[in-house]
Amino acid sequence: MSLPTSVVTATDVAATPDPPQPKSSNRPRIGRIALAAPVGVAPMAGMTDTAFRRLVKRQGGCGLVVTEMVSSEGLVRGIDRTLEYAEYTEEERPVSIQIFGGDPAKMADAARIVEGMGADIVDINMGCPVPKISKHNAGCSLMRDPRHAAAIVEAMARAVRIPVTVKMRAGWNDDEINAPVLARMVEDAGAAAVTVHGRTAKQAYAGSSDWSLIALVAEQVSIPVFGSGDCVEPEHVIDRLRTGPDGVLVGRGVLRNPWILAQAADLAAGRDARVVTMRDRGQFLLEYIELLMNERVGEAEGFRHTAPHIVDEEETARSESGPYQRSALRAPARGRERWVVNKLRALNAWYSKGYEGGSNFRTAINHAESVTHVRELIGEFFYK
Ligand SMILES: Cc1cc2nc3c(=O)[nH]c(=O)nc-3n(C[C@H](O)[C@H](O)[C@H](O)COP(=O)(O)O)c2cc1C
Repeated sequence: MSLPTSVVTATDVAATPDPPQPKSSNRPRIGRIALAAPVGVAPMAGMTDTAFRRLVKRQGGCGLVVTEMVSSEGLVRGIDRTLEYAEYTEEERPVSIQIFGGDPAKMADAARIVEGMGADIVDINMGCPVPKISKHNAGCSLMRDPRHAAAIVEAMARAVRIPVTVKMRAGWNDDEINAPVLARMVEDAGAAAVTVHGRTAKQAYAGSSDWSLIALVAEQVSIPVFGSGDCVEPEHVIDRLRTGPDGVLVGRGVLRNPWILAQAADLAAGRDARVVTMRDRGQFLLEYIELLMNERVGEAEGFRHTAPHIVDEEETARSESGPYQRSALRAPARGRERWVVNKLRALNAWYSKGYEGGSNFRTAINHAESVTHVRELIGEFFYK
């Protein structure tokens, strides 16, 4: 991978006059959980599954991983697919399971399930702008009702001993930028950390993340504040850390470059960022396929942390009628293969962006019908 010529080193960082100081050094603590690095993988629905998180973690430099958002309703009802979204493995620790929902009692119950699964942290989604979520008084619409949002945090913090954290946006729209106020309220309600994606719900992904607002939030609370948004090169991660948050969670940048956190750690240590070759990139996808194909196959007892499955008649009815299809992980081999191909298509939409021939490669992967074919295409593209 080519890196920009102006590499920021730890020496440059030290030479900057009086940069804002993060509150908790370069090893922030979330409650009693000490992070080995101030950077981690942001939650991304459909993307940050356990296999992907494990692979990113193995590259190094990653202090925290967060699951895809998981429905509190689905957790409480024991719906198969929801429980699988929440699964993690020991090597991912510390791991945060993100849940969404709007009912304080149900969110508290879901937090207990998350704690029962042995997760290190339970995170609340207050940033999702998608109407399907936000119209149910969950996700970012909670930012429009800060008292209710704080009541959810309070109910969860009373219910569990693990740290409860909140991920929010800047606010609902330009007229309702309230991340600093909400951060103070959730801190008072018992939150152990907050992450702020510096865009409004209305913006979705337009414009850019407002890191000066994130810095303002960091000034106003005493719990750790993580910033999120637009770090696509390791230099961006280092630069953003200098603006005042305690840590940075990287989203799309990790999907394009799973080594970005390791490279940021290189830069922070004063080394050149490690070089990632096309072969490394091909190997990553092949390993991702292997992990997905072998999910649960031949795993040692206790390898995977799962929630107890509750047999639910309604779930069975729904799974037969469509919206809650049974998970590919329990499906026969053919179903799993299709699921793996779809997973590769989803990741590749980000992963191959900006590479010569990437567009043709994406089209080819999107038309591939089997894992064997996907592997061949990866071989041709990355190992030619
Ligand atoms: C595909 C995708 C899925 C996402 N899913 C979630 C989610 O489940 N929960 C959440 O809090 N944020 C979610 N986000 C937002 C990211 O965590 C992150 O805050 C945002 O993308 C900005 O950071 P970035 O520019 O580094 O991607 C998602 C983002 C993307 C691109």
